[in-house]
Amino acid sequence: MSGRTTLVGAVTRGTTSPNRLRRMDRWIAATHGAELRRAETSLAVDLGYGATPWTAVELLHRLRTVAPRAHVVGVEIEPSRVAAARRYEREGLSFRHGGFEIPLPGRPALVRAANVLRQYDEAEVAAVWQRLCARLAPAAPERGSRGGLLVEGTCDEIGRRHVWVALGPEGPRTVTFATRLGSLGRPSDLAERLPKALIHRNVPGEPVHAFLLDFDRAWAAAAPYASYGARQRWIRAVRDLAADWPVTDGPARWRQGEVTVRWGALAPRA
Ligand SMILES: C[S@@+](CC[C@H](N)C(=O)[O-])C[C@H]1O[C@@H](n2cnc3c(N)ncnc32)[C@H](O)[C@@H]1O
Repeated sequence: MSGRTTLVGAVTRGTTSPNRLRRMDRWIAATHGAELRRAETSLAVDLGYGATPWTAVELLHRLRTVAPRAHVVGVEIEPSRVAAARRYEREGLSFRHGGFEIPLPGRPALVRAANVLRQYDEAEVAAVWQRLCARLAPAAPERGSRGGLLVEGTCDEIGRRHVWVALGPEGPRTVTFATRLGSLGRPSDLAERLPKALIHRNVPGEPVHAFLLDFDRAWAAAAPYASYGARQRWIRAVRDLAADWPVTDGPARWRQGEVTVRWGALAPRA
């Protein structure tokens, strides 16, 4: 036996930067913190952390604010990026060479894959999601646990605009739009950061296109609130949007420049 496992995936550009994923980290801490605290394993994976390991270092730091036993393993398919990251290993943080198979013994409470699938083909997404969801910690209803979470999405270079899909062991749950409000022209500016499963579906006839049109309309109608600041305008627009779309969060998240919608409402038509 060689003892070698087959790596699943392909090396892609390693672009990353410090603090790029702060919006995603904070959302994970806020929405998944309780699950991470009670998880039997508080293992979190930063899958495809890139040329430098900053996003994994920061994920550990932010998870520890809500789940002190959390530990993070950065998994990267490009071996020299793993070798370079090793000198940043410390208590709770390590790095492994691997791909979508996730070469770790446990089943993680969290897998975060940011700006990874964007460089794959749309046709590959479903199989990758399935594979990663199957690696998550299973639901344990007797403990009130819905199981592990996969967060897969995309953002711009400095993390002002994000869109991500959250998936559980059973499949996709929600889509979150998150932005720095001060720099937003209109909500559909986020379209260029849609994850791979949705970016080619922003065309007439597809739900995500209808959603962004409605969001822009609600944003335009909320223009009078701009005099109280972009945050008040966003909150007003999301409140209107929630009359027609299954928004799953509330004002505490909207204040952060976020809104989360049930996946089923935005999923591509078959
Ligand atoms: C654009 S970088 C993203 C870095 C970081 N996650 C961020 O958002 O700033 C994408 C990284 O994912 C890695 N990658 C691509 N496919 C992968 C796979 N199947 N398993 C692990 N890493 C992968 C690439 O080698 C690359 O370093």
